Amino acid sequence: MLEKINEIKHQIEQDIVNIKNSNDLENFRVKYLSRKGIISELYDLIKSIPQDDRPSVGKAINELKIYCQQVFDNKKQEIENLSNIITEQIDLTLPGRRRWVGSLHPLTKTLKEIKFIFQKMGFDIADGPEIEEDYYNFEALNFPPEHPARDMQDTFFISDKILLRTHTSPVQIRVMERTTPPVRVIIPGRVYRNEAISARSYCLFHQVEGLYVDEGVTFSELKGTLVAFAKQFFGSNLKYRFRPSFFPFTEPSAEMDITCFLCNGKGCRVCKQTGWLEILGCGMVDPNVYKYVNYDAEKYTGYAFGMGIERITMLRYGIDDIRLLFDNDIRFLKQF
Ligand code: PHE
Repeated sequence: MLEKINEIKHQIEQDIVNIKNSNDLENFRVKYLSRKGIISELYDLIKSIPQDDRPSVGKAINELKIYCQQVFDNKKQEIENLSNIITEQIDLTLPGRRRWVGSLHPLTKTLKEIKFIFQKMGFDIADGPEIEEDYYNFEALNFPPEHPARDMQDTFFISDKILLRTHTSPVQIRVMERTTPPVRVIIPGRVYRNEAISARSYCLFHQVEGLYVDEGVTFSELKGTLVAFAKQFFGSNLKYRFRPSFFPFTEPSAEMDITCFLCNGKGCRVCKQTGWLEILGCGMVDPNVYKYVNYDAEKYTGYAFGMGIERITMLRYGIDDIRLLFDNDIRFLKQF
C-alpha cells in the first residue's frame, strides 16, 4: 500500500509539470483531488488492510493529499499570474504621453519683444534700483516739494528719504549722471504704487522707460519712434492718437492712446466708453532736469517715454483683469 502511495506521488510530480492551462489544471484536480479522485479512492482502500497498518497508511495518504493540494495551488497561482500579464498587455501603438513643458510668462514675452524692437532702433538697455531715494524718484525729476504724487497715498515710503520707486524715470537721472550725450536707452523694471487692487490696477507693475538725449532731438522723432514701435508690436493697421498731458520732468508732454482691444473703439467698460486706451506717457525732457545732471540745456534736447507693460500685455492678448498676471495660476499661464 505504501508503495502504491509512492507511485501516485511520482505520477503527480510528472502530471503537474505538464499542466499548461486552466483546462489541464481542472483535469488534474478531477483526477487526484475530487471526490471520485485517486486520493479519495485510497482512503476507501484503508478498510481492506490489516488493522495494525492502518495508522501508518492513513498518515501517508494524508501527507500525499496535502502535497497534492499544495502543488495544485502553486500551479493555479502560476497560471493566473500568466493570464493577468496577457490581459494587461501594453499597447505599443498608443501615442506617447506628451511631457508638459513650461512657457514664458506673458509679461516676459512682452518685455522680450519690446526690448527686441527698441534694440533694433539703436537703444541700449539700462537698469536701476527698485528701492530708491526721494532725490531720484522725485526731486531731480523736477517734482515740486508739495507735489501730490509724493503723498503717502501713492508712494510706499521706507523712511523719510527712501521709497519704492513709483516709476522707472529715476533711472533716467542715474543714466544721465554717468553718461555724456548721446544717450539712447530703454529701462525695463518693476515699480510700486500704493493703489487699491482691482481689475485695472495692482500695487506693483512693470514699466519700460525710454530716454534719448542728443543735439537736435525733436518731438517728431519721439512720435515717429513710438509709432514705429506700436505698429511693430500691435500690427501695422493700428489706430493711435497723442493727447497733450503733463509730467514735471517733460515739457511739452503727451500720452499715447491706441484703440481699445475689447470693443474695437466702440466704447466699453474697459476703456470707460471712450474707445481709447492709454499705453504710455512721453515728452521732451524738461530743461530743469538737465540742471540736476549737469547737461547743457542750450546744447542738448531729448525725449523720454514710459509705458506700462501690464497694460500693453493685456491689450495684446485680450486679458481683462490685471490680477491674472500676478496670480500664477497654471491654467492661465499655460495658454501662452
Ligand atoms: N514716469 C511716467 C509715469 O510713470 C511716465 C513718463 C515717462 C512720462 C517718461 C514721460 C516721460 O507715468
